[in-house]
Amino acid sequence: MCGIVGYVGPRRVVPVLLEGLRRLEYRGYDSAGLVYQHNGELVRHRAKGKLVNLEGVVDEHIGVASGTGLGHTRWATHGAPTENNAHPHTDCKGEIVVVHNGIIENYNALKNELIAKGHTFVSETDTEVLAHLIEDCLDGDLVAAVRTALSRVDGSYAIGVLWAREPELLVAARNQSPLVMGVGEDACYIASDIPALLPYTREVIFLDDQEMAVLRRGEYSILQIEDGVPLTKEVTTIDWNASMAEKAGYRHFMLKEIFEQPQAILNTVSGRIVPDTGVVDLPEIGLDPATINTIDRIALVACGTSWHAALVAKYWIEKYAGIPVEVDIASEFRYRKLLVNERVLTVAISQSGETADTLAGIRRAAELGSKVITVCNVVGSTMTREADGVIYTHAGPEIGVASTKAFTCQLAALFLLTLYLGQVRGVIDPVTQKKLGNALIDVANLIESDLPRMQKDVQELVERYYAAKDFLFVGRGLNFPIALEGALKLKEISYIHAEGYAAGELKHGPIALIDQEMPIVALVPKDTVYQKTISNVEEIKARQGRLVLIGTEGDEHLASLTEDVVYLPHVREDLMPILYTIPSQLLAYEIANRRGCDVDQPRNLAKSVTVE
Ligand code: AGP
Repeated sequence: MCGIVGYVGPRRVVPVLLEGLRRLEYRGYDSAGLVYQHNGELVRHRAKGKLVNLEGVVDEHIGVASGTGLGHTRWATHGAPTENNAHPHTDCKGEIVVVHNGIIENYNALKNELIAKGHTFVSETDTEVLAHLIEDCLDGDLVAAVRTALSRVDGSYAIGVLWAREPELLVAARNQSPLVMGVGEDACYIASDIPALLPYTREVIFLDDQEMAVLRRGEYSILQIEDGVPLTKEVTTIDWNASMAEKAGYRHFMLKEIFEQPQAILNTVSGRIVPDTGVVDLPEIGLDPATINTIDRIALVACGTSWHAALVAKYWIEKYAGIPVEVDIASEFRYRKLLVNERVLTVAISQSGETADTLAGIRRAAELGSKVITVCNVVGSTMTREADGVIYTHAGPEIGVASTKAFTCQLAALFLLTLYLGQVRGVIDPVTQKKLGNALIDVANLIESDLPRMQKDVQELVERYYAAKDFLFVGRGLNFPIALEGALKLKEISYIHAEGYAAGELKHGPIALIDQEMPIVALVPKDTVYQKTISNVEEIKARQGRLVLIGTEGDEHLASLTEDVVYLPHVREDLMPILYTIPSQLLAYEIANRRGCDVDQPRNLAKSVTVE
């Protein structure tokens, strides 16, 4: 999942491109490159590895006056992460340049056709085909050439295109990969994601699939790729500001985002729940009470951490709304035989709103007649524009690749949805609803007050565990998905192999892994399955497993089992998943730091998986 950025306007273009790339680097960091118009030529610089390597080669050009350019930070799909495969890519003469996020699925056939016509290729990428295809179609009009070229392309793309002979023209287009336009004073911008635009403008236009934009200084037009028909698109004002996408004094975005969680959760619930009654109002979900009362099943669809949120929501919805729930990993959901129809509500959970598999899943569900809503953190993202309704998490921009505040805000939003469904269907009593609503608000305040102490307790564990080769995370009931999430957090930023298991599953195989080398993080709060989980913990202890217990303050029995206990305040059992995920986030962060890993930009990953 790459990041692209483009600019046409009066500013010095190189600093604008570099600032945009800095804000998109979480989308991919295998290589970076930029190109700008200068004295009738296209000046291109590229570098392998992180953006800092590119900054080192372009700084002598920083004063260039030119006002048109493109930038790209790459997550490699086709071709190794080398400088030669870094974007931008050019045509044979170096007069056309392209940056691209996505996959050209028929690039091989197109490449062979263009080679047969005499085009010379220099990279292993699918993207280079676009530059030569546009060159092949060009007859004095770049916009027409881009349209014709894209009519030959199968696959996903968000592209920016420049032509040396039109120094103030930038052409952009999208299909299945995110692209947002920024509109500023006498300037236009394109970017893969909103944070890149925030230093310059908060007025944005979200392009939809099969749409292209023609940008010049202070003016733009948008048209259908297929027939060139002009389109009028809504300009959205983003309520994020540039500083929200900064580290604000924290060492890493991830740590900042862990500590932002209490406020983010409160921002997500405020205005949607009446504190002293627990009554929930979700007008934006676009489902009237009659429709809600016809639902006989809910399909939750997501990937990664968002899938863990879905697993938690299943327990809540079935308990308090009385609706059967299926949870699917999106990459499985999209390809299996779906028994989905108009009586099934499909809920997509996604921080980015751009995850390719989740997008494909909701498209299939909609084709089968299902109403679709999405729980999402990015205003105007593709999923939010294709769903029938949206529950936005108000977590603010999440820059760290490892999702933290978005996850707990997803849980808060899904809890609101649970209460709302139960309320509309008349299956949740007002007393219980009031207690649950207050417990949701209380858990955010408890995290706020306890986070510094949790961080200190976790920091004391790091020296004993950072060198481990493997970890197990176990939990029961609502905390089983939190065990999965803790394992994912640790593995994706520290590169330590970690697995999450239902505590009751240990005896069915994983217990064979237990020895005095194996750390096991066990979530063992004073909940209804406490005694069962304690039995599992005793089984681990009997095999010399290295226990880290996360449990309820005051439970002295835990300290008799291990010296490594993180105590948490008592909360209502239903809300434990939100609280119990925090220590695992902190443990992953501190261990990854101790191991010298790149916490915000872990190897091989990217923030938004917009390709299959
Ligand atoms: C979370 O820590 C991971 N980076 C990843 O699993 C992520 O949750 C997944 O890719 C889904 O992304 P989405 O929420 O934007 O759809």
